[in-house]
Amino acid sequence: MTVPAFRDPALTPEQRADDLLSRLTLEEKAGQITQYFYVIDPEAADEQARVVEDAIRTGRAGSVLFVRDASVANRLQRIAIEESRHGIPLLLGFDVIHGLRTIFPVPIALAATWSPEVIERAQSVAAREARAVGIHWTFAPMVDIARDPRWGRMVEGAGEDPVLGAAVAAAQVRGFQGDLSAEHVIAGPKHFAGYGAARGGRDYDDAEISDSELWNVYLPPFQAAVDAGAGNVMSAYMDLNGVPASGNNWLLTDVLRDHLGFDGFVVSDADAVRSLRTQHFARDLTDAGARALSAGLDMEMCMADPAFGHLPEAVAAGRVAEAAIDTAVRRVLIAKLRMGLFENPFTDEVASTSVVTAPEHKALARATAEQSLVLLKNDAQTLPLDAARLASVAVIGQLAASKRDTLGPWVFDHDTEEVVTILDGLRQRLGDSVAVEYAPGVGIPRRLVPSFFDNQDPSVEETADDHDDEAELRRAVGVAEASDVAVVVVGQRQNQAGEFASASTLDLPGRQVEQLERIVATGTPVVLVVMTGRPVDLRFAEKNVSAILQVWYPGTRGGEAVAATILGDVTPAGKLPFTWPRHVGHVPMIYSHNRTFKPADQGRRYWDEESTPLYVFGHGLSYARFEYSNLRLDAERIRVGQSTVVTVDVSNVSTRDADEVVQLYIHQRYGTSSRPLRQLVGFQRVTVEAGNMRTVRFPLGPDELSYWSAATRGRVQDATTVDIWVGGSSAADLGTVLEVTG
Ligand code: NOJ
Repeated sequence: MTVPAFRDPALTPEQRADDLLSRLTLEEKAGQITQYFYVIDPEAADEQARVVEDAIRTGRAGSVLFVRDASVANRLQRIAIEESRHGIPLLLGFDVIHGLRTIFPVPIALAATWSPEVIERAQSVAAREARAVGIHWTFAPMVDIARDPRWGRMVEGAGEDPVLGAAVAAAQVRGFQGDLSAEHVIAGPKHFAGYGAARGGRDYDDAEISDSELWNVYLPPFQAAVDAGAGNVMSAYMDLNGVPASGNNWLLTDVLRDHLGFDGFVVSDADAVRSLRTQHFARDLTDAGARALSAGLDMEMCMADPAFGHLPEAVAAGRVAEAAIDTAVRRVLIAKLRMGLFENPFTDEVASTSVVTAPEHKALARATAEQSLVLLKNDAQTLPLDAARLASVAVIGQLAASKRDTLGPWVFDHDTEEVVTILDGLRQRLGDSVAVEYAPGVGIPRRLVPSFFDNQDPSVEETADDHDDEAELRRAVGVAEASDVAVVVVGQRQNQAGEFASASTLDLPGRQVEQLERIVATGTPVVLVVMTGRPVDLRFAEKNVSAILQVWYPGTRGGEAVAATILGDVTPAGKLPFTWPRHVGHVPMIYSHNRTFKPADQGRRYWDEESTPLYVFGHGLSYARFEYSNLRLDAERIRVGQSTVVTVDVSNVSTRDADEVVQLYIHQRYGTSSRPLRQLVGFQRVTVEAGNMRTVRFPLGPDELSYWSAATRGRVQDATTVDIWVGGSSAADLGTVLEVTG
């Protein structure tokens, strides 16, 4: 018997895909572009597994998600290869968001490193662990710009800025995909597009985004991810300007394919195709499948009863062309072929264990966390603490000792026992010479509506309702009072951030602020540690506490990173990837807004609250001290289309080696559109040794100076005067001016 052409590795993936495509029935084609959830409800696990296995066997499933165990991956793969008609391997996808077994800091924390190298390395480890257990594809990175911190998924992205967001997106794609060899996975930037703009920060709500915001703010991270070679894109759930993103031909074809140049395959978000009916856009499931596919969506992710299962009917009724189905199937087959799945479909179950438990992965998780911490405030050099001068440290707050919360949301395959909490980290670091006394203090109230992820995760710790707040508060205050210093850890539980975790306030939940007030009143110096994935109301702390450290959800070895930073083994250098408002009423507040009719009054717009943010975008302090000088341009006058170079000297005038994130901002004084007061156009995280100076250079040309204008409905670069600032935050005051002539 001759071997079919699609099995011949000497042919190109495209030739092999064409051959295979010609052998498939219409039903089998629909099957290749259908992806099933494998067991999401532990209560009905056996039944769901049976349904999925049957779909694989009969050619009705080409991909499965949520498999995270090597033996299950191999078992399903064996069914596909040995029991289905053509033996086409499955593509196995999973949400590998910030690690698989080794958990790295949450994505917003990765963004706070402002280091594409660090981010790429972290995600390459996540990819290695994922691939070892048989996962081929991650539903990450989330590259949605988030400007409303009520939206819980801000934690999964890179914050408010398109330039930082683009750099972080590209770094993650490079880390996940690498050269797509045996240690890498396909990356799927999501959610295309505009999901972060959900009205009111309410998850899944519709988004109304102007063209100018779409092109200038929401699309650049996707462009960067596509340019970095992302093999997949996930479509969003919500209506974008009245049309569901997952059924939007303009978005999925004109923008994604024709404009951004994407040539991989598009998957829907979970059940987003069926949801076209739920959202009252499609008439029925057949209509939903036909319209999603025709719009440019290649694969449906679904729980059950896929809309794509109705595609054969839709073809028969003339509602979709079989050629459109062929295009989608071909893209999916090419992805499988490029990954080498026809040659190597299985994973090594024995080896997978040593990969996911590799000590060097844990060490990298710690190093990454160290780079992500943001020192928000540090008066009178409160930090770092000097262990030699301390006899006792109080550690207060449930989050200080919660293994599960330290990991953050969107992790399913961790081993909670491996987690080093902040309390563990401080105890380890301080040893026996300093007495560390822990008090959990007040509880953190549970979510009103349980998170649907909690049932996936038996390790979720919830103690709020099980203890006496008043007694715990008194004990915490007593412990703080009796200690030389109190490290008070406040924040939100991990399931109060993430998907389906919108918040109506930015207040710290429960009585955490009241407890902080009582601790501050004891006179014991306080170091406030904030564990959240979004800004919270820190007005009291900013006024009354001398040191504040934002630690996000720092991951498996997060507690070591926090302890090392508090005690000065590490100098913090993370910077905020978003503007930190004072109060929920400030939301949305971004640094890159336009000038107003009353520029002088910009900082005085509320009568009941300061109009400035609590901390500006790009803010983050250091134990070292940096001075910026000698800002210069290679050419102070250029023509439209030409480039110059911005150069600055950054001196470390302290006695500590440290990193600094050098940031370049511009503003144009007049032009086709009004432009933001400040706009980040470049950044570099550099290490500057104590007493040394580094010269940092940034290119500045059409890429940085052009933008999409609603006046011309296209990209323009103006002849104008451009203000330039370089410094360690968006409040940088060292400036110069560039003239751009026509
Ligand atoms: C829904 C989420 O919106 C998406 O980000 C995720 O990848 C899928 N569920 C699959 O878990």
